[in-house]
Amino acid sequence: MIEDFDSKSKTWDQHRYRIERAQVVADAIKKRISLDQIKRALDFGCGTGLLGLNLVGLVKDIVFMDTSSGMLQEVDQKIKEKGIQNASTLLLPNGKIESSFDLIVSLMVLHHIDNIDEQVKWLSDALEPDGYICLCDLDQEDGSFHQEERVPHNGFRRESIMGLMERNGVKVVESTTVYVNKKMIGTREHEFPVFMIVGRKSA
Ligand SMILES: C[S@@+](CC[C@H](N)C(=O)[O-])C[C@H]1O[C@@H](n2cnc3c(N)ncnc32)[C@H](O)[C@@H]1O
Repeated sequence: MIEDFDSKSKTWDQHRYRIERAQVVADAIKKRISLDQIKRALDFGCGTGLLGLNLVGLVKDIVFMDTSSGMLQEVDQKIKEKGIQNASTLLLPNGKIESSFDLIVSLMVLHHIDNIDEQVKWLSDALEPDGYICLCDLDQEDGSFHQEERVPHNGFRRESIMGLMERNGVKVVESTTVYVNKKMIGTREHEFPVFMIVGRKSA
């Protein structure tokens, strides 16, 4: 079974750990990057906007992008309900980004994308000189995180993502474990660490 995000959008936020994870990642980003300097931010693969909505009050402008219109409808509704003025949503036909940003954040998205070399290039190309990127995703795992669902990548070796960033003109500033997903599989709790790789585009 392949993950269908449109059908999951309405219930996405019912899993409390997703809200907590986004909050923890946002706090880690806030500690590392002066968000008051950021004019234009992008939450790439935003889902229901859990990560970017934690940053919205700190940056000048933020765009929420996703390939799922269902997910973006949830973000639009939150933007409307909260009366947020500096945020917009954009549906991507694929992961190609046509505008540029001085901060790109992405949480739990890359492992859903087949051609990761191309996607990291597109993300790097969409960064302004000196812009920051924070890529957060699963460390390599044995496939049990998604259980019966199939995804293109069972997490990543951090070195492979860092290598792709460096090859596309983004200098790696830091690689850290930002969160640990915990899931019961059978009778045992399993841990699935999430990395955060922070990079900065060469000026
Ligand atoms: C696991 S969800 C994570 C959502 C959100 N970042 C969060 O942490 O709650 C992955 C998201 O990536 C989106 N996605 C999948 N492929 C994509 C692509 N090629 N470009 C942009 N978004 C994509 C999905 O629609 C989905 O909303």
